[in-house]
Amino acid sequence: MSEKIIEFRHVKKAYGGNTIIDDLNFSVNKGDFVTMIGSSGCGKTTTLKMINALIEPTGGDIFVEGTNIRDRDPVQLRRSIGYAIQGSVLFPNMTVEQNIAYVPNLLNRKDKKRTEAAVDKWMKIVGLDPSMKERYPSELSGGQQQRVGIARALAASPEILLMDEPFGAVDEITRGSLQDEILRIHRETKITILFVTHDIKEALKLATRVFIMDHGEIQQYDTPDEVLRHPANAFVEKLVQRERHTCLLSEDRIGNCEFSAAACGYRGAAVQPM
Ligand SMILES: Nc1ncnc2c1ncn2[C@@H]1O[C@H](COP(=O)(O)OP(=O)(O)OP(=O)(O)O)[C@@H](O)[C@H]1O
Ligand SMILES: [Mg+2]
Repeated sequence: MSEKIIEFRHVKKAYGGNTIIDDLNFSVNKGDFVTMIGSSGCGKTTTLKMINALIEPTGGDIFVEGTNIRDRDPVQLRRSIGYAIQGSVLFPNMTVEQNIAYVPNLLNRKDKKRTEAAVDKWMKIVGLDPSMKERYPSELSGGQQQRVGIARALAASPEILLMDEPFGAVDEITRGSLQDEILRIHRETKITILFVTHDIKEALKLATRVFIMDHGEIQQYDTPDEVLRHPANAFVEKLVQRERHTCLLSEDRIGNCEFSAAACGYRGAAVQPM
């Protein structure tokens, strides 16, 4: 059986009298790549931020690596979980190198060599040229800043990486290459990723499981293949309508009457008649 690395049990979040999330129950298996998608304001960011204790739930329990996060020091917890969000969250007065080295420096205070090695490794993995080390965030393009943000989140070697619309502000081509890089990172490191996006194509391309949310409730939580093949309700149906259509069309074009998400490049897709 797969090991649960994150588990929500009856989680509730309200602001004043306004309940955003009423009773959220789900778990994430170690090594999963979960993409979260849903209408604006449905509670995706809130869900993510409850995992690293940036937001405290009103009720219920959240377990990370088997421990109730109420029993953990929030600062330590946050350092052990990578967090990358949209836009520039880099320290503007620090160079690229200092930004990426920030958490490793806290973790291995005395071992400078280890930190340097971590910075070099992660810059390479996210596709940043070493010559950029001395630059400041304001001297980088938006896409380069996002790569630094991802390298910084990964440099602490977390088991879990939370990403909130991390590729939102880049052009299509850069986004495509960042998607390929995060897929490679996921394959190579076996890290568990939760990734919020508004782009259904992106959600289906990256995920091992897609988490579809509306009004603080899970609409469907399944593999891309299942979501495409068997949308759980009208909300999901509408969300994936175009993708289903495109897939079926491309299947027709290759003279194959079977429905296969694999042909569209989605993960975990089985080739079976629909
Ligand atoms: N500090 C707060 N006080 C009151 N309401 C809040 C607060 N933070 C968030 N909310 C509300 O909670 C709801 C969920 O917000 P959240 O940021 O989780 O949405 P989201 O799914 O991430 O949306 P988006 O796709 O637009 O980023 C929204 O209606 C928002 O207005
Ligand atoms: Mg959000």
